[in-house]
Amino acid sequence: MKGIILAGGNATRLRPLTRVTNKHLLPVYNKPMIFYPLETLARAGIKDILLVMGGGNPGDFVRLLGDGKEFGLHEIHYTFQEGAGGIAQALGLAEDFADNQKIVVVLGDNILEDDISAAAHEFEKQKAGAKIFLKEVKKPQSYGVAEITNERITRIIEKPKNPPTNLAVVGVYMYDKNVFNVIKTLKPSDRGELEITDVNNYYIQKGVMTYQVLKGWWGDGGESFDSLLEAQVLAAKWAKNKSSSS
Ligand code: G1P
Repeated sequence: MKGIILAGGNATRLRPLTRVTNKHLLPVYNKPMIFYPLETLARAGIKDILLVMGGGNPGDFVRLLGDGKEFGLHEIHYTFQEGAGGIAQALGLAEDFADNQKIVVVLGDNILEDDISAAAHEFEKQKAGAKIFLKEVKKPQSYGVAEITNERITRIIEKPKNPPTNLAVVGVYMYDKNVFNVIKTLKPSDRGELEITDVNNYYIQKGVMTYQVLKGWWGDGGESFDSLLEAQVLAAKWAKNKSSSS
């Protein structure tokens, strides 16, 4: 499987922090935000990675990450998304890189405690379709939210006013090669973006979506100042626990 990290967008929600730098380069305790999704993939043994950059200062990503060897990666490729056409549009840029293989996509601002290796193995064995991760949150209104009946996801609603559950859709997605055909059929949403939620709802309607609920903490560092602060506090606790147990 190949890995894709999406680090596009203009991060207007985090201005002025993002006026002169890219959101994914902001500090989250002792590391730049982008290190976390990179380490999530590397830990799962996914070592061929494409980074889709966007916004200002793309050269800074290359200065920071270089050839990726420091993270134990085999290869890191870089590409650029013009404008802010949405997560699904950014993913569409990865078609050649994916080369008909299954892919794991991680949003550049998502920070996960869990190791996703077992889920990645399961998805390798899954014949076709997609797999997503869910996490119970206090404020589901800020995320894509899963509607669940008899343990099956029936629909994902993007930032609902009245969420049907408190299960947010985490920014880690596993797809088969068909995802690029699905993206080509999408129409922009009300916010003018190609939505990853529309891609996921396609797979749900086809009956080929599986999911897993995360056990450890999850943070979307780019959602708001508060979510960034929360991610920083959690990342600090995590780093300190790790160093005291080693
Ligand atoms: C995106 C997705 C949303 C998901 C979230 C996870 O939201 O659209 O479904 O729950 O990432 O981080 P955005 O951060 O683009 O508003």
